Amino acid sequence: MKRISVIAVLALLISACSHYEELKSDPKESASGDDESHNAGQNCSSCHNKSGTEAAAEGWWTVAGTVFKSDGRAQGSATIELWEKPGKQGKLIKRLVTDDLGNFYTNQVLNFNGGCYPVVYTSSGEIQMTSAFNGGSCNSCHGVTESRIQIN
Ligand code: HEC
Ligand code: HEC
Repeated sequence: MKRISVIAVLALLISACSHYEELKSDPKESASGDDESHNAGQNCSSCHNKSGTEAAAEGWWTVAGTVFKSDGRAQGSATIELWEKPGKQGKLIKRLVTDDLGNFYTNQVLNFNGGCYPVVYTSSGEIQMTSAFNGGSCNSCHGVTESRIQIN
């Protein structure tokens, strides 16, 4: 009995690890100048974070969203940082950049430490979110209950 449960646990660990290894070896992340994404401004997780869908198979985004310019066009040169504490304090958890559509995304496993603080900047300025973000789609709020993420 004991041996069976040990084997079962091992099997679980191995499959969990191989999924993690697979993610690490096949990182998908927005890059400056890329145009592989789509649906700018939409709630990315409404498709990408649903198990068993084609979108999820293509990319299970742990963070995703869109940055616009004030005239509504894509902001293709913004940087997004997720900090451990407000005001860019503590550890930098993740840095992403927008692609040509203004979209940013990653499939990498991140530790949000129970909440992190987004900062978005370009060469012309910086905006910060003062409440905590816990992962997922920024566009589940921005463009829905909040204004779009906008910076020139
Ligand atoms: C209405 C559902 C839906 C929404 C909303 C959506 N996606 Fe997708 N996405 C898909 C599907 C389905 C695919 C796979 C087929 C394809 O490439 O069109 C895909 C593919 C992608 C790919 C290509 C992955 C690859 O390896 O080629 C990227 C990048 C992407 N989506 C990013 C995003 C981002 C960022 C958002 C939010 C701004 C988003 N998607 C919103 C359904 C969606
Ligand atoms: C649960 C809803 C929610 C999610 C998810 C969310 N935000 Fe926010 N965001 C808010 C609210 C509410 C505010 C305004 C109050 C504040 O700063 O906390 C805000 C404000 C901001 C601001 C400041 C805007 C300005 O013009 O000053 C930025 C930048 C921002 N968010 C970026 C992000 C990014 C990047 C993500 C994803 C990594 C994200 N937000 C996810 C709700 C959300």
